[in-house]
Amino acid sequence: MGKTYVVGNFKGGVGKTKTVTMLSYISAVRKNRKTLVIDLDPQGNATSVLAKTGNLTSIEKTITNGFLEGNLENQITPILPNLDLIAANTQFKDLPKILMKKFPDDNTKQISYLRTLIEPLKAKYDAIYLDVPPTISDFSDNAMVSADYCIIILQTQELSLDGAKTYINYMQYLIDNYDINIDILGILPCMLRPGGRVDEKILDDAREMYGDNVLHTIVKHQERLKAYDSEGITLNTTYTGQPDQWDKRAHDLFDDVLTELDAHEQELN
Ligand SMILES: Nc1ncnc2c1ncn2[C@@H]1O[C@H](COP(=O)(O)OP(=O)(O)O)[C@@H](O)[C@H]1O
Ligand SMILES: [Mg+2]
Repeated sequence: MGKTYVVGNFKGGVGKTKTVTMLSYISAVRKNRKTLVIDLDPQGNATSVLAKTGNLTSIEKTITNGFLEGNLENQITPILPNLDLIAANTQFKDLPKILMKKFPDDNTKQISYLRTLIEPLKAKYDAIYLDVPPTISDFSDNAMVSADYCIIILQTQELSLDGAKTYINYMQYLIDNYDINIDILGILPCMLRPGGRVDEKILDDAREMYGDNVLHTIVKHQERLKAYDSEGITLNTTYTGQPDQWDKRAHDLFDDVLTELDAHEQELN
């Protein structure tokens, strides 16, 4: 049975989508795991990156149709060997209306619908990654209820544990109030400003508060990671047949992240 992972933080621009797209790519391409990305953000950033990664010019199948029809299996778009996507489109902004209409006055059913729809997919995949918009909303609730694990982004630069803290508190609220089972798999320090320095104080505070949950790998600014937004994730080779060093560096970084997360997962079990 595959496991479901949500990458969370109630802020935009902290590296959630980057983490989802890179981890899923490494999971599929380097670790040979059958991997699915479900894009739950109507902005469709993960969709756009992965479409480019697979050289797709348009995607017809969407998460919105999946929610309307009550079936996600018909909405899967293959990207690369081992890597599939359920794409988001702007229409998915209507998720609250869709849920309200399907399950009037039943909040539990509303926030559990994604879990119901993912259930049949779990036999087909080793890993399912969820990309969510940065709001406390039906989107994030559905994702948290569906996920076995969450990976929390810690911004080391904004001098702020706030985003991570809010997320963890809200997760606890859902655990206390609904029948859900989600563990923190890891807290990933992301520092996206070019030339930024790691704020050791913030990292120390985070380690004090969250202990070994905080990963040792730190995602720092890399131009190549930024370039993947417009080009898709690439693995170019030089004329001597060596992997392009900047691609390799970007991929190695998230390989380290995934390896640490794997170790945490084993410990939790
Ligand atoms: N390690 C990184 N190095 C360089 N740019 C990054 C890195 N991580 C993310 N970015 C860029 O920062 C912006 C926000 O990242 P994104 O993953 O989309 O954030 P979120 O999904 O949390 O809103 C994007 O333009 C992305 O390309
Ligand atoms: Mg995003």
